[in-house]
Amino acid sequence: MLEIDFRFLSSRLIGKNGFNQKELAEIKQKAKKSFEEVKKQKAELGFIQVIYNRSLLKACLELKENYSGKFKNLVVLGIGGSALGTRALAKALKPEAFFSGSFSPKLFVLDNIDPDWLEKIFQITFSEPSLFFAISKSGTTAETSAQLLYVVKKLQARYKKDWKKWLVLITDPQKGAFREFARRQGLVSLEIPPEVGGRFSVLSPVGLAPAVLLEIDIKKLLKGAQNTDQIIFSQNPSLAYFLAGIFWKYAQRGFKNLVLMPYSSLLADFCEWFAQLWAESLGKRYSLLGKEVRAGSTPIRALGATDQHSQLQLYLEGPQDKLIVFLRIKNFSKKLKIPRAESGLEALKWLSGHSFAELINTEQTATSVSLAKNQVPNLTITVPKLDAYHLGGLFYFFELVTVIAGRLFQVNPFDQPGVELGKKYTKALLGKKEFSREKKELEKLLSPEFQ
Ligand code: PA5
Repeated sequence: MLEIDFRFLSSRLIGKNGFNQKELAEIKQKAKKSFEEVKKQKAELGFIQVIYNRSLLKACLELKENYSGKFKNLVVLGIGGSALGTRALAKALKPEAFFSGSFSPKLFVLDNIDPDWLEKIFQITFSEPSLFFAISKSGTTAETSAQLLYVVKKLQARYKKDWKKWLVLITDPQKGAFREFARRQGLVSLEIPPEVGGRFSVLSPVGLAPAVLLEIDIKKLLKGAQNTDQIIFSQNPSLAYFLAGIFWKYAQRGFKNLVLMPYSSLLADFCEWFAQLWAESLGKRYSLLGKEVRAGSTPIRALGATDQHSQLQLYLEGPQDKLIVFLRIKNFSKKLKIPRAESGLEALKWLSGHSFAELINTEQTATSVSLAKNQVPNLTITVPKLDAYHLGGLFYFFELVTVIAGRLFQVNPFDQPGVELGKKYTKALLGKKEFSREKKELEKLLSPEFQ
């Protein structure tokens, strides 16, 4: 289970940017109330229920039986919550799927529509046996839909009547164009439960199906999430709610940036996943009661030790508007010893005899303390080991913390009303009939006279 070191939030150690005992107790009290509210809703929370869904697990395992070993590249068409979890999972547990080398299948996550980039990936993936997963909860997302249209044509051209063998759709059980397409064409498809929102879907077939084909142990992933769920709800709830309370309180105090800094290259994409989860869930203009609140804090992705030589100077001496959250791996699977210094390299002797595991964790400790000395609030979350079990727990934990924070900010963490307008404008600009009113508005705003 995770351990969290909160010491460098205490005013005794970091002065004015910290909290005293009474304030910490108040945060805990308030966060506990929010947790209790979440607990009451637990049975309706899709992201929790999905980790116990046996039929979805079975469907993913069957997919493995049917497709394993039959293709060289796994290509995910998807964006946002339909892509970031897969990338985080694969980078953490199967980084070799991204390396050039003999590991197969390679993974390509196409979460953008840059044509120059896509063209290069399609050149590779259409010249070798590649399985395409088109993932979209809504089945209407412009970026993924455009990719699907393109891929279907290319598959048909390449495989003629056999094209359907190379495509799997993962989407809502009933709604959207992807489901209709799967139904009419008799395509292999998996379901995303309607009550599981995009950015909360990594432990549904959205993340599990690509993971299982990369030989990731998805049963262990789910076991880790289930055990974390049980520990939090029956033994140690404060681990989650106190963290949510701290994230929330710092944002309220004007620390509007939340930096997530793992000391692990394999967790770099976990930060990307978390950034979407936190930003899209909590960045809201209106509260649940309709009051204008402009809630949220800005997630920043950083990487230790790399960003010690890039961002850290700013975190130490720049504006004091950040809460730094470290992720640290207690036991790396490989230690990688640093060898004895050769003649001529005596100046580096101090490193010899230590390991890279020791060096990276020592640097994390040193960074945390140096931030504290500069009165920068920071906390450290220690993950016992980076494997499927603990990663499953970590995904679940951060989802739950985000939902509890939603209660504290008094916003709905499951919607994203702000981004709808841009989607409408894109459709209007591309000539979709229903958006003629928006088109008129855009023509006016974009006209040269309006500059
Ligand atoms: O969290 C969300 O709901 C969004 O970020 C979605 O994941 C993203 O917009 C992609 O949506 P869809 O899976 O419907 O294509």
